[in-house]
Amino acid sequence: MLKGKHIILGITGSIAAYKSAVLCRLLVAAGAEVKVVMTPLAKQFITPLTMATVSQNPILVEFFNPENGEWNSHVKLGEWADLYLIAPASANTMAKMAHGVADNLLLTTYLSARCPVAVAPAMDLDMYAHAATQRNMAQLRQDGVHIIEPGSGFLASGLIGKGRMAEPADIVAAVEQLFEKKKSSLACRRFLVTAGATIEAIDPVRFISNHSSGKMGYAVAEALGARGAEVVLVSGRTSLDTPHGVQRIDVLSAEQMYNECKNRFAECDGAVMCAAVADYTPAAVADHKLKKGDGEMNIPLKRTRDIAAELGANKGGRLLVGFAMETENEVENAQGKLARKNFDFIVLNSLKKEGAGFRGDTNVVTLIDSERGVELPLMSKREVAEKIVDKIENIINSK
Ligand code: C5P
Repeated sequence: MLKGKHIILGITGSIAAYKSAVLCRLLVAAGAEVKVVMTPLAKQFITPLTMATVSQNPILVEFFNPENGEWNSHVKLGEWADLYLIAPASANTMAKMAHGVADNLLLTTYLSARCPVAVAPAMDLDMYAHAATQRNMAQLRQDGVHIIEPGSGFLASGLIGKGRMAEPADIVAAVEQLFEKKKSSLACRRFLVTAGATIEAIDPVRFISNHSSGKMGYAVAEALGARGAEVVLVSGRTSLDTPHGVQRIDVLSAEQMYNECKNRFAECDGAVMCAAVADYTPAAVADHKLKKGDGEMNIPLKRTRDIAAELGANKGGRLLVGFAMETENEVENAQGKLARKNFDFIVLNSLKKEGAGFRGDTNVVTLIDSERGVELPLMSKREVAEKIVDKIENIINSK
């Protein structure tokens, strides 16, 4: 259930921190990759060595490593995560979260995280019942934080009442439920996705095309489908299998792709334009195989239609996402395309980074909207697709 999920486990200074080791162990056993962030006080309750061992990753406490000055980037960490789980969450940390205080790495990571956030409060019953704590929790709920309710029972203070952190197994079940909910988060939505390379015929045997494998677009179609959306995938040439539950329409040329997209877009909530569409096509297709001669050959080319720009011009309230593959002035060019084609955001492929580009299974991208650009770390194309779909979901939910 949690296979491949990236979870940041935040630990604050509470006696319940001793249970965080078991919690971490259960998350890892369920297939999650876990990175642990601790507040300085949390180290008094459970050692970084224990947490590093059970999480199989170094522990993050300070903003930078005092030995070598290496920066622990809370922004990168926040982008890496599919879920930020703070367990135990003390009254102090929840109060700071509710007010945007950022005086430790756990809190700066909270402010940078774009993924869902869940907290499992742990404290004494009077602290839990206090109007200030209840007010802070109400604020967190309003900010979209999921609260995994504490249980009732024996507390470290010797009192009996509500405030005990939920048991690790129950926290894992709550986390699984959160991911489960995500599976239907785009139910009743319909998306158009273009993918793969177009083929522009020169004569009956030759054509102009490009190296696009279609992997990125197919991963986006799969990720949208996995969240319950209906997906129409207009596909140029690829050798990939159709993702489960996705309706695939095969096309060859840019013109065919345009014809399939233009009417379908009207019935969709949005479109993701991943295809590598030819910009030029032979002005005329020879009806016989062109004979070679001794001299040079020139083939007159004409411009194809820009499918994305045409959809952008008739976008209405729909969402439109584009891709850019640039070799120079990458960000400026991508921003230009964002505006020109009326995209909500554009995914800039970084060709200069190792692990990015056409045929591989990984990618390095920057998601750029009209306000900012966020570079994601090296990820599999499926993981990149999840991040793209997270952003799509955020925009759709805020419309
Ligand atoms: O202008 P450029 O080709 O760099 O734009 C890239 C974006 O526009 C991609 O999202 C691509 O799928 C889309 N596009 C298109 N039709 C074209 C050219 C590009 O949909 N003819």
